Amino acid sequence: MNIKYFIVLILVGIIIAACGTVAEPVPNSATLAAESAHNTDETSHSDGEETNVVQAPTNTPQPPTATPEPPTATPTLVPPSPTPEPTEEMPAEGETAGEYQLTADDELILFFVEGGSPTRGETLFNTTYTVAMAGGNSGDWACSVCHNVQSAEAGVGPGMLGLPDRAAERIPGMPAPVYLYHSIVNPHEYVVEGFSDGVMPVGYADVFSETELYDIVSYLLSLPSE
Ligand code: HEC
Repeated sequence: MNIKYFIVLILVGIIIAACGTVAEPVPNSATLAAESAHNTDETSHSDGEETNVVQAPTNTPQPPTATPEPPTATPTLVPPSPTPEPTEEMPAEGETAGEYQLTADDELILFFVEGGSPTRGETLFNTTYTVAMAGGNSGDWACSVCHNVQSAEAGVGPGMLGLPDRAAERIPGMPAPVYLYHSIVNPHEYVVEGFSDGVMPVGYADVFSETELYDIVSYLLSLPSE
């Protein structure tokens, strides 16, 4: 019922629009051409008749005002039927797409970081390990070589003073412990603004045990605010 009704309306609208647009430009262009021909003739003949020439163009702007009416009729008729369907789906999609959804593994991270040892984490942070780099090579690094914990100023990587506050706001819906764990295990997942992807080693999941990763995260969470 609705579809047939709208098809008929759209067709009628198109016909009206077509009639309106086709009918008017022809006289417009014809009259413009005729007038311009007259104007050039008149101006070339005598300068005194220029006041009459100004009046003639004011007739042409009037016809175009008739054309906007047919087009506005079709847009207002078409939207009512499509809009109710999207509005039912859109809010559900928008809510889930906007925020990060915690996985079962993330829940475990939150649970175990609670019992992590910041002291052990600090030791691990300052110890050199052989770790895989993004290019396929490996390198000998301590976290502390690239990350300054005494200030927020950048070294090779971001400074870490005040990191707990920033970590909570990096990804909407992702708590700080989960963000920090992900940042160590998969630096590619979120690249801090102003830094290049591929600089931080990518192999830390193979270097540290789960317990050691929780300890490092709990150490980073213990760093003071700026
Ligand atoms: C070779 C230098 C380098 C080493 C070694 C390194 N990182 Fe990084 N790290 C970076 C760079 C560069 C970034 C920023 C780019 C990115 O986000 O991947 C970064 C980002 C981070 C972030 C995100 C910081 C923020 O402000 O959001 C965390 C957390 C982090 N590193 C922890 C560690 C830990 C823990 C270790 C040691 C286990 C480590 N990094 C070793 C270079 C390094």
